[in-house]
Amino acid sequence: MKEVDVPKQEHQSHEDRIAVAKMLNLLPADELMLYTKTRNFHWNVVEPSFMEMHRLLDEQYGMFNQIVDDVAEQVRTAGGIAIGTLAEMKQHTKLQEHPGHLPEALKMLEELMEVHDHVSESLHDYIETCDEHHDPATENMLQDILMKHRKTAWMLRSYHQRVPVVDKAEVKRGKAA
Ligand SMILES: [Fe+2]
Repeated sequence: MKEVDVPKQEHQSHEDRIAVAKMLNLLPADELMLYTKTRNFHWNVVEPSFMEMHRLLDEQYGMFNQIVDDVAEQVRTAGGIAIGTLAEMKQHTKLQEHPGHLPEALKMLEELMEVHDHVSESLHDYIETCDEHHDPATENMLQDILMKHRKTAWMLRSYHQRVPVVDKAEVKRGKAA
């Protein structure tokens, strides 16, 4: 990762700052994938309470967009160069896209919950890395982001409970693509 000169920060060596910046640069890629997936489902969901789910996902992708911005700016603060192209974002995420894949509403919610689990696991690792590199401020920021993912996953789970039973039965039989 490219580095830029920034003033030394208290209690943290140059090497520590660069290690944190390098680790942080992985997060926007996953958040952008989650943003894109959520927005895709916001547009294309079809279910009886369409407007409700459409609005729920609208609020969520707006939040992920803000997280991408906050984390990229924190990379700059730590002295790194933030990844800013879609090609690099794609290289830095383990999440896969499935073009043309549009599952039913219930399956959409399940897929989003899986992504939140993946991002939350990564955040646990990143929080430990901040601790190892003496960066409580970045650690706090990541803990806030982790709480946002937990809350969002809870909302998706709760919404999942209220999707009509007939829809759930179809998903169990594997009718949802
Ligand atoms: Fe919209």
